Amino acid sequence: MNRDHKSEQAGEPEKICTGATDSAREQSLCTRREFLAHSTGFAVAGATGGLAAARSLSAHEIRARGNAPDSSVSNAAPGKPRRIIIDTDPGIDDAMAIFLALRSPELKVEAITPVAGNVPLDLTLPNALRLLEIADRTDIPVAAGASHPLVRRLATAGHVHGVNGLAGVEFPEPKTKPVRETAPEIIRRILRENPGEITIVAVGPLTNVALALRADPELANMIPAIAIMGGSLSGGNMTPAAEFNLYVDPEAARIVFDANIPLTMVGLDVTRKCRVSEEHIKQLEAANNPVSQAAGKILRATYERMRHGGEVTDIDLHDALAVASLIDHDVITRKDYYVEVETVGEWTAGQTLGYDGHGPVRKSPQMETSAPEPPPTELPYKPNAQVAVGVDPDRFFRLLIPRLTGSAG
Ligand code: BDR
Ligand code: CA
Repeated sequence: MNRDHKSEQAGEPEKICTGATDSAREQSLCTRREFLAHSTGFAVAGATGGLAAARSLSAHEIRARGNAPDSSVSNAAPGKPRRIIIDTDPGIDDAMAIFLALRSPELKVEAITPVAGNVPLDLTLPNALRLLEIADRTDIPVAAGASHPLVRRLATAGHVHGVNGLAGVEFPEPKTKPVRETAPEIIRRILRENPGEITIVAVGPLTNVALALRADPELANMIPAIAIMGGSLSGGNMTPAAEFNLYVDPEAARIVFDANIPLTMVGLDVTRKCRVSEEHIKQLEAANNPVSQAAGKILRATYERMRHGGEVTDIDLHDALAVASLIDHDVITRKDYYVEVETVGEWTAGQTLGYDGHGPVRKSPQMETSAPEPPPTELPYKPNAQVAVGVDPDRFFRLLIPRLTGSAG
């Protein structure tokens, strides 16, 4: 888990967009082209050939700039849990994030929306159902999300998360089924029915969230906060530039970062500091409840695989930290940044660049163009995210382990 992800590509045939779509998968495929045509202010040149592309200002870039709103402050009434949708690609650390949310009275999970990422959707979807069955929470709807990124081939990380996404641990086939709505549909419906009430916790590639925003741009105003596990201001784990979730679907990430939603980026800068030890795994294994037992098995299998592979055996629990930041505000420290997502780099797509206001927000020099007035390369600064820049790992594990073992006071 703490070793770098390496790219795995899953091919996908081209599909012509016909307009109306009846599934997240079709929306995703159609969106590959639509993104190029319609996305905020894009004028892409030679995008399919990986050539240099020119982009006009995004809606975000031309907005007036001020302080990033604090997305960590709960919108829930005092004493009431914060209501959340978990968008996820389970995934070892996704499983820990889901378990933590389910066992935390401060949170109420309204839906889980699996997306293709660590493993393909035909594994992340049943994995989400399995995890809910283990936790005896089959009352929570699970809606199938996108099987592919908006415009790119799917890159997965089965070599990190095991062939089944849960470290190879075999759990029973789920008895429950996903709901009929797709992930973007259920996200839309729940947000529209509860404007200002639902926080999104996105711990996989951001395809589902971007599809929901693309289908319904007003939705952004109804989301009080989004906590994202993804990105990094200190180097990637998929490439030297990009963290996995952003690497998989940079175009989706850009839509989300540009949407003016109060956003917390819980990136590798902090998640790499939250490593499970064998002692933590033993505590999970010793507790006699299904969630703790399942978490222990998944982490034990990961630990043993890494040990036999001669790797450092500390396991990063990236996604669980994003959930923890909604339960305990002070588990991370935050700083305002204007975060741009690189989408055109041949080697750097998915990189997150953070401007903190001390220097100009400056783009690369423009390509020669016949346009009489090219857009400026320097932009006014306005933060669009609170980036987690510090973490208290002990505090995180003092929250996580007792919640999973059931020994929390
Ligand atoms: C992120 O990538 C995935 O492999 C993990 O589940 C996490 O969401 C870390 O880079
Ligand atoms: Ca994940």
